[in-house]
Amino acid sequence: MTLRSPNTMAARFLTWITLTSLLCLGVLAEKKVCQGFTNHLNLLGSKEDHYQNMVKTYSNCTVVLENLEITYVEEHRDLSFLQSIEEVSGYVLIALNTAPKIPLQNLRIIRGHALYEGKFALSVLANFETKTGQGTTELLLTSLTEILKGGVKFSGNGKLCNVETIQWFDIVNTEDEHKPSLELPVAGNNPNCKKCHSKCFNGSCWASGKDNCQTLTKLNCAQQCSKRCKGPSPSDCCNEHCAAGCTGPRPTDCLACRAFQDDGVCKDSCPGLQRYDPNLHQLVPNPHGKYNFGATCVKSCPHNYVVSDHGACVRTCSGNTYEKDEGGVRKCVKCDGLCPKVCNGLGAGELTHTLSINATNIGFFKNCTKINGDITIIKTSIHGDPFTKTPKMEPAQLDVFKTVKEITGEIS
Ligand SMILES: *[C@@H]1O[C@H](CO)[C@@H](O)[C@H](O)[C@H]1NC(C)=O
Ligand SMILES: *[C@@H]1O[C@H](CO)[C@@H](O)[C@H](O)[C@H]1NC(C)=O
Ligand SMILES: *[C@@H]1O[C@H](CO)[C@@H](O)[C@H](O)[C@H]1NC(C)=O
Ligand SMILES: *[C@@H]1O[C@H](CO)[C@@H](O)[C@H](O)[C@H]1NC(C)=O
Repeated sequence: MTLRSPNTMAARFLTWITLTSLLCLGVLAEKKVCQGFTNHLNLLGSKEDHYQNMVKTYSNCTVVLENLEITYVEEHRDLSFLQSIEEVSGYVLIALNTAPKIPLQNLRIIRGHALYEGKFALSVLANFETKTGQGTTELLLTSLTEILKGGVKFSGNGKLCNVETIQWFDIVNTEDEHKPSLELPVAGNNPNCKKCHSKCFNGSCWASGKDNCQTLTKLNCAQQCSKRCKGPSPSDCCNEHCAAGCTGPRPTDCLACRAFQDDGVCKDSCPGLQRYDPNLHQLVPNPHGKYNFGATCVKSCPHNYVVSDHGACVRTCSGNTYEKDEGGVRKCVKCDGLCPKVCNGLGAGELTHTLSINATNIGFFKNCTKINGDITIIKTSIHGDPFTKTPKMEPAQLDVFKTVKEITGEIS
């Protein structure tokens, strides 16, 4: 036994304070959220730039709000930064890599809110280069037990081992109204592949070694279970709000939530922002109300997000709404008529070197309510100009300016 010095005690106390204050900030303080990509198979810059961009986006990230795209990763690259990822809201695309191992051991759930090629939640494509014979051999998705929406596609992975043993019906959602499309892996011809460990249930594994067996949380459940389970006995059933699996029977014991997670409890929906007051016979603000942020309920939207008119945290206002500060909260508010839209006039932005309004640029002014710059209409505006190849314009096209309420420059 060792005696703790007062210094260590102080240090412990400080750590405790930091931890509690973090916990008060809610789950998001422990779970770092990142945006992810929607680049499909595009290479951004050089392979080096592309890789560095992935490192920057996914490092320390637990929840990917859009898609997890792992593409163009070469043999020598370090992919250990992928190990923090537990949840993906959109799809997972693993394509055109030659890195031997894709380490996604902590990814539990793919929600499939966006699907690759409109169908696939998990796509593993062309991770093999015929020219060099190099390719991915291990796809370590050892915790992946749930795909809520969408199918699975494997194609052109000549070197990939073991995945043909996976029982996909334990993972995909066959109760979804759109039956998942499945283009499943077939056994490759890589002589270096090793068999699944003999202890793996039904011979299913992601890679050799006893830590890489597939964990079943659906096919092997007792009949009483509604969704997932942690073992074959009726007492092993998970709560119906759980996704992926659980450690016990309560809605606080889930590995992931099917719909929303509110302070560690899985639920169907977040507490409403309004509630019915039976005395006043009307809706009043609910002091316990929360916003939807991905699959989490939050007291306030994170920095850089605004509150949509449906009470969700979004990156930008869409539809007929615009961003407005209401009592210190950034909200999307319905526009009164046309939404405010600021456009460049002549002498600004893309029109810096343009002398007059003409048939080529009139389209830029559609729906503008404010114009930063000048508006100049000359004879060639209407009649065109063969010298600068400017076509004629119908005077009625000038009607686009009807929506403009303010012009910062001059009209001539
Ligand atoms: C990830 O977290 C570690 C430890 O908190 C930190 O040292 C590192 O800089 C972080 N990396 C990135 C890219 O944010
Ligand atoms: C696993 O078991 C199921 C039925 O219990 C069977 O259809 C399937 O072929 C088995 N898979 C393997 C790899 O043995
Ligand atoms: C017509 O508009 C185009 C695009 O803004 C511009 O490049 C061109 O110079 C304009 N022509 C005249 C005569 O102003
Ligand atoms: C202009 O506004 C209308 C009505 O809101 C919308 O349907 C249209 O797409 C907008 N057009 C452009 C170019 O912004």
